[in-house]
Amino acid sequence: MSLVDKSIEIGGLKLEGRILMPPIATYQCDENGMVTQNVCDYYAKRAKNSHVSLIITEHSFISQQGKAKEKQLSSAEDKCIDGLKNLVDTIHACGTKVFAQLNHAGSAAMQKVCIITPIAPSSVILPVKPALGDGSLPREIAKTEIPGIVNDFVKAARRAKEAGYDGVEIHSAHGYLLNQFYSPLTNHRIDEYGGSLLNRLRIHREIIHAVRKEVGKEYPISVRFGGCDYMNGGSTIEDSVIAAKVLEQSGVDLLNISGGMCRYTRNGHTESGYFKDMSSAVKTAVNIPVAVAGGARSLSDAELLLQEQSADLVGIGRALLKDPRWEE
Ligand SMILES: Cc1cc2nc3c(=O)[nH]c(=O)nc-3n(C[C@H](O)[C@H](O)[C@H](O)COP(=O)(O)O)c2cc1C
Repeated sequence: MSLVDKSIEIGGLKLEGRILMPPIATYQCDENGMVTQNVCDYYAKRAKNSHVSLIITEHSFISQQGKAKEKQLSSAEDKCIDGLKNLVDTIHACGTKVFAQLNHAGSAAMQKVCIITPIAPSSVILPVKPALGDGSLPREIAKTEIPGIVNDFVKAARRAKEAGYDGVEIHSAHGYLLNQFYSPLTNHRIDEYGGSLLNRLRIHREIIHAVRKEVGKEYPISVRFGGCDYMNGGSTIEDSVIAAKVLEQSGVDLLNISGGMCRYTRNGHTESGYFKDMSSAVKTAVNIPVAVAGGARSLSDAELLLQEQSADLVGIGRALLKDPRWEE
């Protein structure tokens, strides 16, 4: 049996294969972020692909303040639960498991969309190119605001579970809020949420503990982890290995590896597994499953990444976006 077809457990959830569809934002919801028929149709086509055992749906905003873009999927209000349930049922009907990705965009939010001045760990311009959000200077988050942000993640996780999702993924990659706390390029705080790596992961640890308390022991929690910025002065692969252990100890069931401030691409790299230097280093350091996406285009690309122990699961993003019947 090839490795791509081997089953694997994530926090007690059995998947019948090692290919996942990572989150790909479609921005096809209505203006309030409610699921539309277009969104369901788009996911149904990919969920029918016999190689895909897990879909992680596109980043959803957990609060108005953390909304990145118009027509982004919402997990911010109870009234979105019915639409999410419809989406989950559609994907389940194709025999595929599904996680919800939960996100706060931080300074990557657009002021005209999130209504207020975007917030961030520190008042610095996001070093992301092309610019995310409107590229304006964010307001530094007061320490007293942090419990509210943690609580917004908890409420969004509760909604995802109520909608029938098989698990949740906390977004800490691609320059969004939790990535901004983790990266030394964007976190210049002098309180206990800045400075050391452990401090830069404090909000993550608080969110994971609080979400775990809400969803219970048996419910998978993944972190989309932009562990390395691949930029001068940014987070490094060494940081990602230490951070991965911290996230594991905090109770995460899956680490879904991607880029940090470089986002989901890597300058000068288009080969299959262009983040595998990070994912393989993380994989040797933790006992939970590790996924990697970036550059894999074929089943044999994925098989090779698994064979060489670069990851336990492989994300196929743009290839599935382009062709829902990928490799069938
Ligand atoms: C149009 C587009 C939208 C994306 N949206 C998200 C998202 O919502 N959340 C996320 O974590 N990653 C997002 N990504 C990154 C993908 O999940 C994936 O990591 C990336 O496409 C690299 O994998 P690939 O080479 O297989 O496409 C997006 C990528 C693209 C191209």
